Amino acid sequence: MKRFLPAAAALAGFLAASVTLYHELWRLQYHFSPARTWTNDPNGLVWYKGEFHLFYQNNPFGDKWGHMSWGHAVSKDLLHWKELPVAIPEENGIMIFSGSAVVDANDASGLCQSTEPNDPSCLIAIYTGHTATLQTQNIAVSNDRGRTFTKYKGNPVLDLHMKDFRDPKVTWYAPAKKWVMAVSLPNEHKIRFYGSKNLLQWALLSEFGPAGATGGQWECPDLFEMSAAEKTDARKWVLIVNVNPGGVQGGSAVQYFVGKFDGTAFHNDNPAEQTLWADWGKDYYAAVTYYDSPPGDMSKYLIGWFSNWEYANDEPTAPQRGAMAIPRELMLRGTPAGIRLMQRPVSSLATLHGTELGMRDRDIASANQDIADKGFHGHQMEIIATFEPGSAKEFGLQVHKGATERTVVGVTSDGHLYVDRTKSGRSDFSPKFPGRQTAPLRLGKFVTLHILLDTSSVEVFAGDGERVISDRVFPAAASDGIEVFSNGGAAKVASLRMWKINSVWP
Ligand code: FRU
Repeated sequence: MKRFLPAAAALAGFLAASVTLYHELWRLQYHFSPARTWTNDPNGLVWYKGEFHLFYQNNPFGDKWGHMSWGHAVSKDLLHWKELPVAIPEENGIMIFSGSAVVDANDASGLCQSTEPNDPSCLIAIYTGHTATLQTQNIAVSNDRGRTFTKYKGNPVLDLHMKDFRDPKVTWYAPAKKWVMAVSLPNEHKIRFYGSKNLLQWALLSEFGPAGATGGQWECPDLFEMSAAEKTDARKWVLIVNVNPGGVQGGSAVQYFVGKFDGTAFHNDNPAEQTLWADWGKDYYAAVTYYDSPPGDMSKYLIGWFSNWEYANDEPTAPQRGAMAIPRELMLRGTPAGIRLMQRPVSSLATLHGTELGMRDRDIASANQDIADKGFHGHQMEIIATFEPGSAKEFGLQVHKGATERTVVGVTSDGHLYVDRTKSGRSDFSPKFPGRQTAPLRLGKFVTLHILLDTSSVEVFAGDGERVISDRVFPAAASDGIEVFSNGGAAKVASLRMWKINSVWP
C-alpha cells in the first residue's frame, strides 16, 4: 500500500491542478494562451487543409523566455484553439526563433512526401536558427499537417555570418510565380527581400529602410498585398515592421508602411520619416498575417502577441505567461491623410455572444441605471458604444471597475482616444506597466468605441478601426463593473450594445 501513496498524492495533485486549469484569475477566456509555459511571437501562421495553424515562440520548460521552440495550436475559427505538442523543438543548442510557414502546393521544394493521391503538397516552415553568436534562416518540412517537422539537411538556406539577422516571413508573389522572403537586419533597420522558386535557394532582391520608427531593433517583418479600398480592383502592398524598443508608448510596437512591391523592391507611398502605428496600446507586438485563408474567404487575418518586452517576463499570471491578442481582419481605406490600415476583431467572435443588452438615446445617468438594472457586469464582454460628444470635455467607459480599481477608455474633445490603466489593478510587477496610452482620433458628430474585455485585457477599436489600443490589465475578480461617463459637459449615449462573451475553454 505504502508504495502507492506517492502516486496517489501525485494523481490528486494533478487532478486538482487540472480542475482549475484555464480558470485561473487572469486566464484570458477567449484569447489564446498556452495551457502552461511561456509564449511570445506568433509564428508560421497558415491555413492548411481545414485548420488555422498558430505556431508560437514557446519555452516548453518554463514560464519565462528561454529554450525557444515552436509551440503549436490549431483552430477552425481563430477562437477555439486545440493545443498540440511542440512542433519544432530547440536542438543541439540552436533555438528556433520566429518565422513563417507556407503551403508548398506542388512540391516545388522536392521535400514533400505526401501520401494523398491527388495532393502532392506539404507544409514548409521557414525559421531563424539562433545561437549567441549567429542567426541563420532555415527550412523544415511537415508531411503530417504541421504535427511534426523534419529539418532540411541543407540548412541553413541563408547565412550572412551575422549575430542579428532574423524572422523570415515568406509570401507567394503570383506574377512571377515565386516566393518572396522578407527578413530583418534588426540593427541596420533594414528589411531584406529574397526570392526563390523552390524555397531552398534564395537570391537577394533588394533592401528597404531605414524608414519610420528606428528607435530600436527591427523585427518580424511581413509583406502582403491587399485590395486598396472597398469596391475597387486597385491593390496595395503593406509592409509590417515590428520595432523594439522605441514603440509608440515605449518598448515594443507594430508599425506599417503602405506602398507597392514590384517583384523586386518595396516602394513606400509615404515620406520615409513618417511612422504609421498599427496599435497605440502598450501590449501589441510581433504581429504578422496568415499566409492563406479558406477557399472563398478573402479576409486578411493578423495575430499579434499581447505583451511588451518591457515587462513580458514579469506579468503576474500562472501557470503560463504570454498570450495572443484577438485575431483581426485587415482592410485598407482612403483617409484624408492617405491610405491606412483598418482593423476589426475577427467576425467569428459573434458566435461567442451570450446575453445582450441594447439601448438608444440615453443620458449618462439613465444608461448606467439600465446597465446596473440588467445586471451587466463582468470581465468578458464585447461593447459597441456610440456617443454624441455634445459639450463634454471627455467621455467614455470605465471597465473592470471596483471600489478602487478601474480601467478608463476615454475620448477627449481635443481629438484623442485613451486607455488609462494607472488604477487598473495589479501593476507592481513593473514601473513601466501603469500609465495612460493616447492616440489621435478624428471626431465626428458621433464617436463609436468597439471594446473587447477579457479577464485581464482591454482592446479598443475606434475611428472605423484606424485606431486600436491593446492593453493587458490585472484587476481583482470583484472589479467587474461597467459604466459610461462624461466630464466637463454632457455627452449622450446614442446607442449602446453589449454582449457577454462565452469562454472558449472547456
Ligand atoms: C520578437 C523576437 C524575434 C525573435 C523572437 C525570439 O519578439 O525578439 O525577433 O525571433 O522574439 O523569441
